[in-house]
Amino acid sequence: MKNPPQDAAAKEILQQIAVLKKEREAVILAHNYQSPEIQDLADFTGDSLELSRIAAKTSAKVIVFCGVRFMAETAFILSPEKTVLLPVLEAGCTLADYATAEQVREMKKKHPDAIVVTYVNSSAEVKAETDICCTSANAVEIVRSINRDRPILFVPDYNLGHYAAKVTGRDLILWDGCCPTHALLSTFAVAKAKKKWPKAQVIMHPECKAEALELADYVGSTSGMLKYVKSQPTGTSFIVGTEAGLLHRMQKENPDKVFYVASEYLICPMMKMITLKDVKTSLEKMQHVITVEEDIRARAQAAVDAMLRYTGTVSKQPPSSVAETEFSIGMEGKDAV
Ligand code: 13P
Repeated sequence: MKNPPQDAAAKEILQQIAVLKKEREAVILAHNYQSPEIQDLADFTGDSLELSRIAAKTSAKVIVFCGVRFMAETAFILSPEKTVLLPVLEAGCTLADYATAEQVREMKKKHPDAIVVTYVNSSAEVKAETDICCTSANAVEIVRSINRDRPILFVPDYNLGHYAAKVTGRDLILWDGCCPTHALLSTFAVAKAKKKWPKAQVIMHPECKAEALELADYVGSTSGMLKYVKSQPTGTSFIVGTEAGLLHRMQKENPDKVFYVASEYLICPMMKMITLKDVKTSLEKMQHVITVEEDIRARAQAAVDAMLRYTGTVSKQPPSSVAETEFSIGMEGKDAV
């Protein structure tokens, strides 16, 4: 996949963005699913975990988050002293919408002993009801780290929870939510792709359904997949079972390898909303500012910090001691928080 040709108008917008970025002392973060031109423009492109880590550490005054709303919210949760901008306010996440704080509170009443593990693809309010967050890069590790005698409520992605349960041998209480883009990737589509490209390895995201994952040679987060393809010999080809945006970076970083998207339907409409013009307008007008009410933010931060502490990076703000204590009850071994 080649970089899209840059016409004069795009070049001009890029120059304007560069000037505005300096003026505002901004950093531009882009998720691996963003359009190629946004990925190429960003200071950092990464998966949810990498971008959370950068948001927690950056010294920039403004974070322009090219991703979806929960990602910008997470950046604010970790860096409330900064201005976090989401260039398109409508860029949400269908998976995150599957769980409300009220529903999680109800489930907690039904399972009072459970440790609540919440995928970062969730609202700040849901994170505030959580003991520890996870991303697809660390869901297995986080689940594994929790004492076996504690039940685990896994919110809101059924497929990721099911995958973590399978790998760890734990019996999780799963939520009835999914990412429609990944969940729609059928076994039939993967089998068809394998027939078309029989020599290609199949790599897939754990938000895909369990039946489809059976056909994968490697399962991992977007950064996990990037690392995996890098480790494979020159000339290897891959059928990629995740949002098609990832292929841009894969191909750019691995010109000696070949990538095929597993299905033409692997496009997340939310992730494709932000254009160069939106980024420029965002910096110009300082829009759309994402904030979270302080009580919710502090409780959500405790859950995100618990995850970051587990993976080696914590934000600067001290987490709420209540959630920290609750969580520590459930952890085991030397890595326990
Ligand atoms: P990653 O954490 O693998 O980047 O995935 C984020 C996501 O939203 C997947 O749909």
